[in-house]
Amino acid sequence: MTSPLPPPYTALQRHAVMPQASHDEAARFNFVTHFNRYLAADLGAGNRLAYETRVKPAFRAVHGRDPVSREEIRVAMNEDPWHRTWSALKRNTMEMRQQNGRQLVLRQIDETDAKVAACNAQAGLLELDPAISQPEYVTCVDIHCQPGSYHGEERPGDVSVAANYDVGLFATTGGALGSLNNGGGRALVEWARANRPDWRPERILDVGCTVGHNAVPLAQGFPEAEVTAIDTAAPVLRYGAARAAALGVGNIRFVQANAEDLSRFPDDHFDWVQTTMFLHETSAAAMPRIIAECCRVLKPGGLMLHVEQPQYGPEMPLFEQFMRDWDAYNNNEPFWSAMHGIDMAKVMAEAGFPETEQFVTGVRSVPDKALFGASPDGEQEDYGRAAIWNAYGAWKPPVSVNAGQEIPA
Ligand SMILES: C[S@@+](CC[C@H](N)C(=O)[O-])C[C@H]1O[C@@H](n2cnc3c(N)ncnc32)[C@H](O)[C@@H]1O
Repeated sequence: MTSPLPPPYTALQRHAVMPQASHDEAARFNFVTHFNRYLAADLGAGNRLAYETRVKPAFRAVHGRDPVSREEIRVAMNEDPWHRTWSALKRNTMEMRQQNGRQLVLRQIDETDAKVAACNAQAGLLELDPAISQPEYVTCVDIHCQPGSYHGEERPGDVSVAANYDVGLFATTGGALGSLNNGGGRALVEWARANRPDWRPERILDVGCTVGHNAVPLAQGFPEAEVTAIDTAAPVLRYGAARAAALGVGNIRFVQANAEDLSRFPDDHFDWVQTTMFLHETSAAAMPRIIAECCRVLKPGGLMLHVEQPQYGPEMPLFEQFMRDWDAYNNNEPFWSAMHGIDMAKVMAEAGFPETEQFVTGVRSVPDKALFGASPDGEQEDYGRAAIWNAYGAWKPPVSVNAGQEIPA
């Protein structure tokens, strides 16, 4: 191994509604974490070697030129025995992670459902709307091999998909997101404080919140603010609301809503509209609608910020694009490849954010340094799971574009 060891599963911080891992379940998660790290940091390097020494020369011999797109590289690499083996092992770690989390959660489903229901009845942070249907882009496959995706229920009122997401994320990310999997949200709070020291957002909307890993730190970082965390999937909202209450957070509500239609919120309502690792799980038709809705509900002068893996611009080498695309073709992330190829500046401009108000910034997870040391540097990035992201943001122009008013020169 050339990389430092990831933290043990026992470093994951528990909260009152999280199912308990047995010794063997924790050991299996540890295996998955270490194997993932080994695949990314050590065996993963063999992919470039295979490309440079075998695949590219063979491609040249046939076509008389180098590959010109990540798709051409993928097709050629999929014939290479090293890449095929590496890819199969990587897919298998995802399946092992899901199987371990799923059986851990199902064996205590009754206790967990009961704890979540009791917590929610007491805390009142949950607002479900049975009229909300699940978009096809989240139901068409089990997203990243997660049985039941985010919305599946074993029985009405169940939270097992959400609990599985919560117990396994630490293993998938090698602890890089911190002991509460909240490094992204904590990074956002630090980013906002550094960039707008006097800014005091009153209303924050977190879109596609799942169990609130990154919405809760926004509520904690801005305790005077009211955070609304929305998702289409009821199980993640039930679990997320109970988890927030168990963590002692009260200035957040988990609301069932579809980001494509935020009509339950008035124009110019929020100071900050936030998504974290969300846009790639939507679709080419939905994403522009969602960004337009973000613009509508944002106050003039407010901030929209989308935290994602970096877009595939012309400055990103094709081989890196191909490696980053792995999840799209092998890990049930159907929109991943197309989304990362989209011109975000154009989509945001069409939604109402002038290019002059847009920016792209780096967001690096804030790890629990006492437990985990520093987060991985760029060299150790594992093409989709390391704690380094890009944020695509814009400040809404000070005069509302919704009202059809002219923006003063
Ligand atoms: C990758 S997860 C986001 C992770 C989360 N933001 C975090 O920081 O932990 C994507 C989430 O978006 C939700 N989702 C997908 N489409 C949606 C939509 N149109 N409106 C609201 N939520 C949506 C899914 O149910 C899922 O929970």
